[in-house]
Amino acid sequence: MSITTKLAAGLAATLVFALPDPAGAEPSRYEEPIRYRRAVMTMVKRHYDQVAAMAKGTVPFNRNEFGRHAAYLEMLSRASLDGFVPGSHEGETKAKPEIWKEWSRFQGLAERFQSETTRLRDVARGDPPDKLKAAVADLTKVCKTCHDDFKAPAVGG
Ligand code: HEC
Repeated sequence: MSITTKLAAGLAATLVFALPDPAGAEPSRYEEPIRYRRAVMTMVKRHYDQVAAMAKGTVPFNRNEFGRHAAYLEMLSRASLDGFVPGSHEGETKAKPEIWKEWSRFQGLAERFQSETTRLRDVARGDPPDKLKAAVADLTKVCKTCHDDFKAPAVGG
């Protein structure tokens, strides 16, 4: 291969990479972080639903189980920022571009998410069940505030 051919091939590859995907699929460079954060949120929902059901009384309160779910939530809240890499509002995602425009506010909510889940875990260790209702309610507020401001609503609702 001559230098010119190599350059031409290199340029062609660059152009192919830079062209928008005609099918409208996400640019592949953001696929991994988007999958990561959506997986984290999917797990968050599972464990949150369990503690919320115990707080509501639809599932009987069990301190060990509550503590186990709270521990997962604490760990996941700490992982939640990792998938929000700059520019990754493009693709199969509901993350709004405002996340990166108002990063310190978004980061502040993620920190509140962490402190509320730490509180939940502490409450699970020894406080009476009524305290735990208040802790779940405060955690719910953090989910809602962040989704209202930074997550696009689901299609059709
Ligand atoms: C700091 C902001 C923030 C907090 C706090 C937060 N979320 Fe999210 N959540 C998001 C964003 C942004 C998305 C959209 C992610 C995407 O589509 O890339 C999301 C997506 C989700 C999804 C959809 C996952 C999917 O793609 O299928 C669920 C479910 C979810 N969150 C549940 C929760 C619950 C429950 C809580 C509280 C216990 C919570 N989230 C707290 C920002 C947050």
